[in-house]
Amino acid sequence: MLHLAANENPLGMPHGAQTAAQQALADAGRYPDGSGVQLKAALSARLGVAPEGIVLGSGSCEILTMAAQALVRPGEGIVSSQYGFLVYGQAARLAHAVHTVVPARDFGHDLAAMAQAIDAGTRLVFIANPNNPTGTFLAGDELQAFLRAVPAQVTVLLDEAYTEYLTPAQRYDAVGWVRQLPNLVVARTFSKAYGLAGLRVGYGIAQPALAARFEPVRPRFNLTGPALAAAAAALADDAFQARSHALNLAGREQLGQGLQALGLRCLPSAGNFVMVEAGDAAGLHRALLAQGIAVATLDAYGLPRWLRITVGLPEQNTRVLDAVRAFQSSAAAATT
Ligand SMILES: Cc1ncc(COP(=O)(O)O)c(C=O)c1O
Repeated sequence: MLHLAANENPLGMPHGAQTAAQQALADAGRYPDGSGVQLKAALSARLGVAPEGIVLGSGSCEILTMAAQALVRPGEGIVSSQYGFLVYGQAARLAHAVHTVVPARDFGHDLAAMAQAIDAGTRLVFIANPNNPTGTFLAGDELQAFLRAVPAQVTVLLDEAYTEYLTPAQRYDAVGWVRQLPNLVVARTFSKAYGLAGLRVGYGIAQPALAARFEPVRPRFNLTGPALAAAAAALADDAFQARSHALNLAGREQLGQGLQALGLRCLPSAGNFVMVEAGDAAGLHRALLAQGIAVATLDAYGLPRWLRITVGLPEQNTRVLDAVRAFQSSAAAATT
């Protein structure tokens, strides 16, 4: 099966990370370092933040759910956007929070409406940039203006799971913002550009006082030794990052332009996936599966006419486009 449903890196794990994980496995008879000292030191050096400002999670999903549990009491509010990542809803449910979902604008975050939706009970706002599943992107200036206007009692969790895929022109310095804003958490992951989805490593960056609020809700030993070792190795592998970035940029063009050439609407995407309006999305999904290609349906997001396709290797993208073309031909033949 060609897996293009979960926005993983088509290059798989970097080699050095595999070696590091295998070496760490030899020690797996012991508990891992529950504080992740070495990975935090490596992140601290790379990002220029104190280790005390870093929270490690079993994937960034755990950073999201911990944020809600640490910062929101039952009955208090969480705000996120329509077409936001599904885990925000789960985080709100686990925290017994009141979850306000603000209608999207052009499939992306409507920051003005989100600011309006914040009330005295709101404690947490989730924003993903780029957003999954829509691939929409908020420019740094717009985002920063929103963050500066958020009341002090509200924390914003800026979910940057796909930030490594931004072009140089799109990049902004969220870690720099953390130094100025005591109510900002930036969440990142090793699951996408770093190629470690199966090992489950994510992290949050915040001022130390805010990061410390996560500690009481963080499960003990939430990251395994092989995961910690692989992440430190992947972080150091700049060549793999460069390759992943270039491959994604070219593949996203190939897939987006190819789908549009087949008459399908695609949203411009800043991530490692494209969202395509397929019309008969269920039919296309089934047809792709029959060809051994798994892509994501988006019914759970209220987007039943759309599919999300992860950018693959060039030949994999070609396989997707060929399968879509074959589906269209057979659908056309069936109606004549
Ligand atoms: C927007 C967004 N945030 C967070 C995640 C969580 O990824 P992980 O838990 O693997 O770090 C994903 C995964 O698809 C995502 O799309």
